[in-house]
Amino acid sequence: MPDYPVLLMDPMTFVRGVPHDYFAELRAQGPVHWREEPGEVGYWAVVGYNEAVTVNREWEAFSSHDKSSLINELPEEELAQQQLMMLNMDPPMHTRYRRLVNKGFTPRMVRDLEASIHTTTDTLLDAVIESGKADFVVDIAAELPLVVIADLLGVPREDRHRMFDWSNKMIGNQDPEFAITDEMAQSAAMELYVYASTLFGEKRINPHDDLMSILTQVEIDGEQLNGLELELFFLLLTVAGNETTRNLISGAMAAFFEHPEQWELLRNDRSLMNSAIEEMLRFVTPVMNFRRTAKSDIELGGCHIKKGDKVVFYHISANRDERVFEDSQKFDITRNPNPHMTFGAGGPHFCLGANLARLEIKVMFEHLLDRIPDLAQAGEVSRLHSPFISGVKHLPITFSPGAKVLS
Ligand code: HEM
Repeated sequence: MPDYPVLLMDPMTFVRGVPHDYFAELRAQGPVHWREEPGEVGYWAVVGYNEAVTVNREWEAFSSHDKSSLINELPEEELAQQQLMMLNMDPPMHTRYRRLVNKGFTPRMVRDLEASIHTTTDTLLDAVIESGKADFVVDIAAELPLVVIADLLGVPREDRHRMFDWSNKMIGNQDPEFAITDEMAQSAAMELYVYASTLFGEKRINPHDDLMSILTQVEIDGEQLNGLELELFFLLLTVAGNETTRNLISGAMAAFFEHPEQWELLRNDRSLMNSAIEEMLRFVTPVMNFRRTAKSDIELGGCHIKKGDKVVFYHISANRDERVFEDSQKFDITRNPNPHMTFGAGGPHFCLGANLARLEIKVMFEHLLDRIPDLAQAGEVSRLHSPFISGVKHLPITFSPGAKVLS
């Protein structure tokens, strides 16, 4: 078995930070590599941009369903459960599901959340602003996406702490710090699931204008989402919309600390906000990879992939491919064009929440620049143990204390 300097399936690898130099070495050798890491099923690592885009788009050749889109091998029962979520479906099943949820997930729905995103961000900053210090992840970045998803779904205020607890348990199960066993994560998912089912029942009878109510009513060609499909969508949104956005905001803050001149640039020229957001997305890339399974023998990047082979494409590497991004390891908020694949690359699963995430990032960084522009790093960045999500667990900060803005 080959002796790899860096094991990409090992959660410990990423505790020291994403091994960008190693990915650059791999890209220099070729865009696609066969790997057999100890204790892991052999797989093709797709590290080149063009090849990753191909895997993402060509769903007929690369299935999200056969073994799911997650990189770990799942026991049969868990795989069967995962396959019921849209992220792990292939067309035509996926197309039907996506058309139905798209009916509820409209640009207007996202716009309507803007006022609440501003208020939530102010509330979070109010809670720490007088003390002049905070844990950026726990106190600021983690809470916003949780509240936004709860608002979007129409979860009543009094139930939110339970929803936050369940989703944190489901998210944290790979990292020893959270001391959450697989059983605890599974049981949190079950509780969330039962909760969603009751709530959907209520919304069916007494609908409001939230996403859950709308989804109980949508119909295309006489077809509706059934109870199980609705509950699984609730579960997927709770995970997909939270961990990603939290880690983007935290990872971007850490990037600004490493590149203070970029912070000053944005502080002095807010017209750069949109390109800054795209660069934060490229540079941080919270979802590092997804898995596909080859549907037939196929050539990719000069390699012969066989039917049934595991294929893992690395967004985190594609987004720094020097063939596409000039000076690709540099954090440059003026970068343009910036065709990153942080939300996908035009395939059928392109992130449903991309514009909502962009809005959350924008509002958060506007408020940070307005209210605590002199924030500084006050301790070590501690990173998540995960080969899938690039995450920050703690990031201590200090800043000049200020006044609360909400009463
Ligand atoms: C910075 C934040 C986010 C990142 C980096 C991210 C990333 C991704 C990626 C890479 C995919 C798969 C795309 C593909 O394979 O083509 C995806 C799918 C998805 N995302 Fe996001 N996401 C974020 C925020 C959100 C939010 C806020 C929501 C919901 C409120 C959301 C909901 C979803 C859903 C439902 C899917 C599955 C779509 C499908 O299977 O058709 N995401 N996301």
